[in-house]
Amino acid sequence: MGETLLRRVRVALGAGRGYDIRVGAGALSRLGETTRRAVGSEARRVAVISNSRVFKLYGARAVASLRSRDFVVTRWLMPDGERHKTLRTAERALAFLSESEIERGDAVVALGGGVVGDLAGFAAALHLRGVHVVQVPTTLLAQVDASVGGKTAVNTASGKNLVGVFHQPRAVVIDTDTLATLPTRELTAGWCEAVKQGACGDRRLFARTKAFLEEEVRAQADDEGRRQRRLVELIAAQCAFKARIVAGDEREDVGRTDARSRRVLNFGHTVAHALEAATVYRRFRHGEAVGYGMLAAGEISFRLGMLARTELESLREAVRLAGRLPRADDLDLKLVGRAIRTDKKRRGGRTHWVLLERVGRARVVDGREVPASLLRASLDSALRR
Ligand code: NAD
Ligand code: GLY
Repeated sequence: MGETLLRRVRVALGAGRGYDIRVGAGALSRLGETTRRAVGSEARRVAVISNSRVFKLYGARAVASLRSRDFVVTRWLMPDGERHKTLRTAERALAFLSESEIERGDAVVALGGGVVGDLAGFAAALHLRGVHVVQVPTTLLAQVDASVGGKTAVNTASGKNLVGVFHQPRAVVIDTDTLATLPTRELTAGWCEAVKQGACGDRRLFARTKAFLEEEVRAQADDEGRRQRRLVELIAAQCAFKARIVAGDEREDVGRTDARSRRVLNFGHTVAHALEAATVYRRFRHGEAVGYGMLAAGEISFRLGMLARTELESLREAVRLAGRLPRADDLDLKLVGRAIRTDKKRRGGRTHWVLLERVGRARVVDGREVPASLLRASLDSALRR
């Protein structure tokens, strides 16, 4: 597929630290040009971190584009899967960066989904106290969320994403053509995160995401060129939303509870983390668990009298359009409740919920405002739809 449209979204961090996100069908063929512009003419080397599945599909194109802009390119492929997002893998990545003689001013390119992006970003932040990273996300979830905003992390025995640093990329290159090879479940997971972004912070983005999904489901987009353009525009709009939140609250100030704080992006995540933990990370893709998490948070908001029934129904419909979720009606609600109470991300020993006042407007609510019986009824309704 040739390049049809290229959108530029700016993440405005101030003090000259902002960066561009390039979104387009075929954007990968411009990776070298974008990276050169982002890191400057002095940079000599680029170390690509990917995994074998993604590299087989897109590695040659990425490397050729980088070489065409005079970078000396090395590559290292990490094993595929969340369970490899660890300090041990990061140590191997760091050894690769040393062997590649990556110097300050050189760059790491992260080519893959959120796992590769988080791990490569983490290694880039640590090597020589920080070298440039260019994110090249190839899953929908990473394109609309993980690649933007500079959160990097690895998992430890105590839980997910518990060790990490903020390290903003120098550029993000999103080639929407890469989604053509993505398995359906990964697309569903990504669409759930896209629904989340609209639901928690931007009513128009929510409506636009829903309209795109409706068209996908009706398979009306028989004009592939038009579909591609709409996809590029939608992903750019999703990135622009995330860029606005990140620009206003770069390091997720834990004292903020307002509708523009980065914390609102955790909408649906309290129950999602509990579902993932209760099923030992085997049943759900993270985005799928977020799908259920949004339904539960929507139910709680409704039952607390914060959210109108029509709004809850609109949210339910959007989650349905995102795709089929694995079953959750067989899960022991007591186990899920316990997992919520032991979530590592609680503050001051208490759960904090991101709830909705309406679609597009969220608020962080103290767990004490959510009675146990209301939580149980909401989980029951959300998981046993
Ligand atoms: P993933 O990286 O595991 O990718 C999913 C699967 O798709 C993998 O098997 C991968 O090899 C494969 N894949 C990737 N691109 C492909 C393509 N174009 N075609 C075919 N297969 C492809 O999962 P993910 O959902 O992208 O990311 C999840 C991770 O992202 C989690 O670790 C999560 O913690 C993290 N995350 C980070 C942030 C952040 O702000 N940093 C935000 C959200 C999620
Ligand atoms: N994915 C949530 C954040 O980046 O803050």
